[in-house]
Amino acid sequence: MKSNITLAIHPEVGDDFYSDKWIEYCQNHNINYKLVNCYSDNIIEELKECDALLWHWIHIDYKAQLFARGLIASLEAINFPVYPDIRTCWHFDDKLGQKYLLEAIEAPIVKNYAFFDKESATNWIESTTFPKVFKLRNGAGAHNVQLIHSKKEAKKYINKMFGSGFQAYYRGGVLKDKIWHFKRDKSLKSFFKIGAGVIRYVFPHKTYSMLPVEKNYLYAQDFVPDCDHDIRVFVIGNRAVTKKRMVRDGDFRASGSGKMSWDIGEEGKKCVEVAFEVSKQLQTQSLAFDFVKDVDGYKIVEISYAASPRGFPKSPGYWTKDLEWVETSLRVEYFIIEDLINSLDDK
Ligand SMILES: Nc1ncnc2c1ncn2[C@@H]1O[C@H](COP(=O)(O)OP(=O)(O)O)[C@@H](O)[C@H]1O
Ligand SMILES: [Mg+2]
Repeated sequence: MKSNITLAIHPEVGDDFYSDKWIEYCQNHNINYKLVNCYSDNIIEELKECDALLWHWIHIDYKAQLFARGLIASLEAINFPVYPDIRTCWHFDDKLGQKYLLEAIEAPIVKNYAFFDKESATNWIESTTFPKVFKLRNGAGAHNVQLIHSKKEAKKYINKMFGSGFQAYYRGGVLKDKIWHFKRDKSLKSFFKIGAGVIRYVFPHKTYSMLPVEKNYLYAQDFVPDCDHDIRVFVIGNRAVTKKRMVRDGDFRASGSGKMSWDIGEEGKKCVEVAFEVSKQLQTQSLAFDFVKDVDGYKIVEISYAASPRGFPKSPGYWTKDLEWVETSLRVEYFIIEDLINSLDDK
């Protein structure tokens, strides 16, 4: 390993973020690190004397959405290594960007549509078939994903989309999910989470309501029917962690359901293969994929540079590029920092 490196880490608190484990990794491996604040006016100055930056920013961070890509591109302009780099993150939480990227590389995707004026969107609605899946370009846990059954429903949606728009953070969806989780496991913990959900519904988290309103576009996908699950593959360098997520009862949406299995089945391996191929083509440091099963095989519905670290520590192992299964305990955060350090060796 290259000696005397200093990694700049932007710290965040909590298990939604990678930074705690990055710091732990540095401490355990005697790697110098400096905590930096990416939101500070003099972040460029703060990074002097450092060899690389690690910053895990998440989709609901309206501030990061404003400038993270700009900061990262600026650092890349002086060849300063960053996780996530631009190739890895420019399309993060932007399904519109992902549409063109995945079409450009001819990845196996669910057919999707984008319109940027009401007239084009209306014309499409008049000529297409239903149901279709309408999505905001951002959001997670399936909260901004809806099944639109008819032309009438679609018109109502676009009136809103080309009118007042939608809040990017759908409070009602978050509360509904907490109730669904309670119905499933009936634990005291999930009961209290409903209480917390109600409080959050009435007094939304300030950060969440600061996200810009989504409006003036229509993004839609063909509906892939009869899916009882999706498959999530998270590729980090030459390893992939996977899970199968089951849909909510009476619903087509898996992400955020909380019901899952580590067994992706024989057919699911194809997703791992495709995820490695696409990651290679896009030269990403890490990339998570959501696949749904169509009649002619699994197709990508979404990509994200980061997946929540909460679930993966329980993964019984990971896949290699040759689709060999390595049974081990793991932390995706360690994979990420290891890869970044190794990439410094090559410089
Ligand atoms: N076109 C589709 N056809 C069928 N199911 C879909 C489709 N798109 C998404 N889904 C289901 O809805 C879930 C949420 O969709 P996704 O685009 O991944 O949104 P999010 O960003 O909220 O995770 C997926 O996990 C999948 O189960
Ligand atoms: Mg998803």
